[in-house]
Amino acid sequence: MIRSVLIGTGSALPRACVSNEELAERVDTSDEWIRERTGITQRYIAAEDETTGSLAAGAAQAALDDAGVTIADIDLIVLATATPDNTFPATATQVQKRLGGKSFPAFDVAAVCSGFLYALTTADAMVRSGMAKRAIVIGAETFSRILDWEDRTTCVLFGDGAGAFVIEAQDVAEADGAGIIASRLHADGEHGEMLYVDGGPSTTGEVGKLRMKGREVFRHAVANLSSVLGEVLAEAGHEPGDIDWVVPHQANFRILDATARKLGLSMDKVVVTVDQHANTSAASVPLAYDVAKKDGRIKKGDLVMLEAMGGGFTWGASLLRA
Ligand code: ACO
Repeated sequence: MIRSVLIGTGSALPRACVSNEELAERVDTSDEWIRERTGITQRYIAAEDETTGSLAAGAAQAALDDAGVTIADIDLIVLATATPDNTFPATATQVQKRLGGKSFPAFDVAAVCSGFLYALTTADAMVRSGMAKRAIVIGAETFSRILDWEDRTTCVLFGDGAGAFVIEAQDVAEADGAGIIASRLHADGEHGEMLYVDGGPSTTGEVGKLRMKGREVFRHAVANLSSVLGEVLAEAGHEPGDIDWVVPHQANFRILDATARKLGLSMDKVVVTVDQHANTSAASVPLAYDVAKKDGRIKKGDLVMLEAMGGGFTWGASLLRA
């Protein structure tokens, strides 16, 4: 039996870091309000020459280097984003070009903040079916481009960045238990109006700006995330206590805390980067994973739960052995 094994991770952040205090100079807000409600202290904001595609390529190259492989060893790129460089071509194809890849399939997946879980689950299915041997899976966003900087209830919450995984087909017997064990994805379009962008090519012809009903999103996020985590654990035959690390979508500290409490998990097992990066949408899970792997928290053999929820609503979780 074939499993997709995570053999490398990488990330990329824009050059400019903007603290809450700096943001408060141009938006009617305060460091205290942002910290108390969200745990965020700073975020990275892309300059004009930094795009979703350039950040994605940086993260992907770092993941290739970490895995000790080159683009010549890759035969699939799946990229999750809600902020592509252009309406088309897919940003994944431009990342392929930047990395010097040719001919193999490359496409984007749109599921907003849970986009990386959707991309990883899709790539995993393609790897296990034999359609690909080694894939780069990327979450990359420049949400700063779709924020309404006049709306203090949303613009303080987000940041830009990218994270990437390289996954490889390996025989379970030889992989020493490593690899993606179980994944679940969900969507419920009933709640589309709670978190959306008020534009698009087929409606206004403009890119549009992000709109959100924060309180309702919060409530649904905690309920949906704890339920999908339970589903994945049950499918894998594991208990919450077996998990070494949860790498959640970094929306805000209070959602992470409330979800962990509902599952009876200690926050010591939850990787938190929202304080440093804010909410980077599809980029947040691979970015947080890369940080926790590089600083030595996530070790080979650890049981790691990835989870995310975003606009749509869409949500999902994936359990893997590092
Ligand atoms: N600075 C200062 N004051 C603010 C700010 C700000 N940036 N934003 C709102 N306020 C004020 C409001 O005007 C309001 O003032 P009022 O009481 O005088 O009317 C007060 O703060 C409270 O506003 P609420 O919106 O009720 O604040 P709430 O406690 O709900 O916190 C928050 C808002 C942080 C957005 C919260 O609802 C939340 O975390 N929601 C989850 C949303 C989220 O994380 N979405 C990310 C995308 S989805 C995902 O990734 C899961």
